[in-house]
Amino acid sequence: MQVELNGRAAIVTGASRGIGAAIAGVLAEQGADLFLVARSRPDLDRVAAGIVQRTGRRAEVLACDLIDAGSPAAAVAAAVAAFGRLDILVNNAGATKRGDFFQLTEADWSSGFGLKFLGAVRMTRAAWPHLKTSHGAMVNIVGIGSRVASAEFTIGGSVNSALINFTQAMADRGRTDGVRVNAINPGHIATDRLEGRIRLAMERLKADRETAIGHILAEQGIRRFGQPHEIGWLAAYLVSPLAEFIHGTIVDIDGGETRAM
Ligand SMILES: NC(=O)c1ccc[n+]([C@@H]2O[C@H](COP(=O)([O-])OP(=O)(O)OC[C@H]3O[C@@H](n4cnc5c(N)ncnc54)[C@H](OP(=O)(O)O)[C@@H]3O)[C@@H](O)[C@H]2O)c1
Repeated sequence: MQVELNGRAAIVTGASRGIGAAIAGVLAEQGADLFLVARSRPDLDRVAAGIVQRTGRRAEVLACDLIDAGSPAAAVAAAVAAFGRLDILVNNAGATKRGDFFQLTEADWSSGFGLKFLGAVRMTRAAWPHLKTSHGAMVNIVGIGSRVASAEFTIGGSVNSALINFTQAMADRGRTDGVRVNAINPGHIATDRLEGRIRLAMERLKADRETAIGHILAEQGIRRFGQPHEIGWLAAYLVSPLAEFIHGTIVDIDGGETRAM
């Protein structure tokens, strides 16, 4: 399926690996030029080179820490300078710490909200005028922890719920400004971030990797982990003209894990 992104310019945050890199790849395969943001310049360069080689689209990068209050505006300005327009924003960067509530520190909470929530807010503030001009679209990559709370995911769950509220608020604003806003809630997706969770399970269960993975799958009632490109396809669809009537929607993509209305 082609989702018609030819000539569009897109920013993806957290695009140096995992879900963000996969989203950037799929958007480029569908014709978009990409502006990739994360901290690691070598990783960004590797992803960008792969995109250019595979798709022939442009892929520019900016290495910066999105917790820094000035980084989002700098990223948007650099993307607009490179492409002369902005049609798509994907807020994906996130790194909330998991663990026992009483072991989590003030710094863990600050960086969790500072990157995933405030980073998305600041990216949106800087990108919005350009998205308004282009009648563009925005997708926030959130997480099913926004719907289902758990004791070991206090920061991530709180950040995700806040980001869902922000998504809906900007969707409301987008009805008048002509910017489409949606969110994706991934379940368990096979990335480095999930590797951390598998390691925690191995320690907790004193088990090998395969046993720990089997335990997580059984605990969540799912048959397998999702793959990053599956989130990429959904994001590409949501920002495309095919999804023009989808607005203010939160889409779970989790293999059936979330059994909520
Ligand atoms: N994987 C899952 O199962 C899952 C489930 C639900 C939701 N999610 C959400 O999906 C998003 C992507 O997850 P993922 O699994 O792909 O994570 P990941 O593999 O850990 O990748 C995170 C990305 O964010 C970037 N990043 C981290 N800290 C940053 C900072 N301070 N400034 C700028 N960029 C930063 C990383 O690059 P650098 O390190 O180079 O900066 C990397 O590109 C996250 O928001 C996560 O919460 C993931």
